[in-house]
Amino acid sequence: MINDRATRPRLPRRKPAPTVPAWEPPSWGEAEDFLRRFHTEQPEQPVALPMRLRQVREQLEQYGTYRHTRAELEFGARVAWRNASRCIGRLYWKSLRVLDRRDALTAEAIHGHLLEHIRVATNSGRIRPVISVFAPATPERPAPRVWNSQLIRYAGYRTTTGGLMGDPGHLEFTDTVRRMGWQAPGGWFDILPLVVEAPGDKPQLFDVPRELVLEVPLTHPQLAAFAELGLRWHAVPAISHMRLTIGGVDYPLAPFNGWYMGTEIGARNLVDPDRYNLLPVMARMMGLDTSSESTLWRDRALVELNVAVLHSFERAGVKISDHHTESQRFLTHLEREEREGRITPTDWSWIVPPISGGITPVFHRYYDEADQRPNFYLDDEAVELSKGRCPVRHHDAGGTFP
Ligand code: ARG
Repeated sequence: MINDRATRPRLPRRKPAPTVPAWEPPSWGEAEDFLRRFHTEQPEQPVALPMRLRQVREQLEQYGTYRHTRAELEFGARVAWRNASRCIGRLYWKSLRVLDRRDALTAEAIHGHLLEHIRVATNSGRIRPVISVFAPATPERPAPRVWNSQLIRYAGYRTTTGGLMGDPGHLEFTDTVRRMGWQAPGGWFDILPLVVEAPGDKPQLFDVPRELVLEVPLTHPQLAAFAELGLRWHAVPAISHMRLTIGGVDYPLAPFNGWYMGTEIGARNLVDPDRYNLLPVMARMMGLDTSSESTLWRDRALVELNVAVLHSFERAGVKISDHHTESQRFLTHLEREEREGRITPTDWSWIVPPISGGITPVFHRYYDEADQRPNFYLDDEAVELSKGRCPVRHHDAGGTFP
């Protein structure tokens, strides 16, 4: 028999994120498209469209870029969410709170606003979708950056005996911040410090005060032994390495958050083999027969882990949703958008939940796959930074690396 594995092209583990260069001057075309869309969807503006188009054209000619009004920024950020084809939670796109932080240019000021973001988003457990938009790059000045992939993440360590501790998804990043001087507690759920890079300044470390980070200890409604595993997760997922692009203007630092869907924690973060990898631990605790795959011990462990996540968040009064509810909401969103005459760009492979896909309604259909702007993009540079690696700078006006 011929083994054709070696000759078959190797498929990537996951579709790679779209990438675009780190900085380009806004094009007139994109600016115009955006302004027209804004004035069509929200016609009552103090400055009429033709006048605004003229202003922006002049700014572009004179400075090589232009400045969004607050209303444009707010609308742009919301529509970027509406266009995020990997997000199942888009029904509430209009309710996104937009914090305009374009004036913050020092590491200290940026850090203060990031902590304020966590505070406003957490809201004692009644999680609010929030985005903080920091300064865009200009021809003279690079934009501020945060290296972390999320505002709140857990450190990962390799132990001296060759074992793993914490979140192995963040081994490299943890290594980098330790080399920069972070004193690592060396536990299973240590909150990583923020690495803030202000324009023209070197990157600086800031702690995220523990009392600001709402976390939920995980328990199971029936399995008493589960609590003894000592698992927990944080309440707010706040992505901080994606570039927001509105009307041709790039905002490389624009952290945003929603609330969690249980499977993100219970079927991925705690389960992926290169994350907490807990299925074998669960199976042992549940006394499952792991002698053969066909006992479906993995599936049974997985479901109970997800029960625990939803149960614990609900018990703690922290907003979370299950994948059945969120799938249903997404279909409502699709219908609403269709009624408005808009398409909803959607990536099936991200929208279908990682458990019970086929028993959620989002599984059984196709979607539009357009790349519409405003939107969020993940650049190669941001990926490198979030792994703690020194990237190739596309637009380097002063930042130095350790
Ligand atoms: N999946 C990521 C995590 O587990 C968070 C992505 C954004 N999720 C959200 N519900 N807004 O941390």
